[in-house]
Amino acid sequence: MNNRPIGIFDSGVGGLSVWRELIKTLPNESVIYYADTANCPYGPKSQSEIICIVDKVVRFLLSKNVKLIVVACNTATAAAIDYLRSTYPVPFIGMEPAVKPAALNSKTKSIAVLATEGTFNGKLYLETSQRFASDVDLHIKIGDKLVDIVEKNKINEAETEIHLRELMAPLIQKNIDHLVLGCTHYPFLTDVLKKVLPENVNIIDPAPAVVKQTAKILSDTNLQNSLNEKPEYEFYSSGDSRVLKSFVLKITNKEFSVKSI
Ligand code: DGL
Repeated sequence: MNNRPIGIFDSGVGGLSVWRELIKTLPNESVIYYADTANCPYGPKSQSEIICIVDKVVRFLLSKNVKLIVVACNTATAAAIDYLRSTYPVPFIGMEPAVKPAALNSKTKSIAVLATEGTFNGKLYLETSQRFASDVDLHIKIGDKLVDIVEKNKINEAETEIHLRELMAPLIQKNIDHLVLGCTHYPFLTDVLKKVLPENVNIIDPAPAVVKQTAKILSDTNLQNSLNEKPEYEFYSSGDSRVLKSFVLKITNKEFSVKSI
């Protein structure tokens, strides 16, 4: 039973920023990745819409006999994690904006979170920011168009840098020294963000913390894969699978097939 795969999903390729960390940290585990490309982006959708969409994804992953599910999407976590945990018997690991380490380490006492509308609207963000950011100035920014830029693989285009410069300008004015990436698509923009932000700004990708939590839950529930066999990686997409394929190739240097469903 412990040899069953881990399921992981996102609205698109963003969750691969968590997947790449997952396979590095847990090299024994087989993983099934689902990109819900047909419904991307989740960010502007209502909570009930997201719950409905995500429910289908989770049912699909459960039909593949997964033992644990990583919700590698801040927006889906914000909208649906309580529903998922109370509905299905497997453990769910969600994303949480890394406000705590940013607030603790800030010297300028000014930090920012970049996320989707859906994530800022959720109670998880509200609770986290109230709990951990009481003695810093916390600025929020909706990552307008950024999911689309990553999904269309326009990361290295000149317009992307111009757009990010505009988005970041008001945050730079506020003298932030930490930028929390609150959407799993955004780590793929890190190189461009580094170009447009002052050198003292730390960019925080929450993937390592989420994977650490996944490892802990696997160990606490005795679900680690103890076999020393080569893990299997599978990929599914509900829409055009080409971008997913090209991102996986970029990350692993290997060709994997992506099944469209
Ligand atoms: N990767 C998702 C997140 O972390 C993307 C959001 C979207 O689909 O709008 O929020």
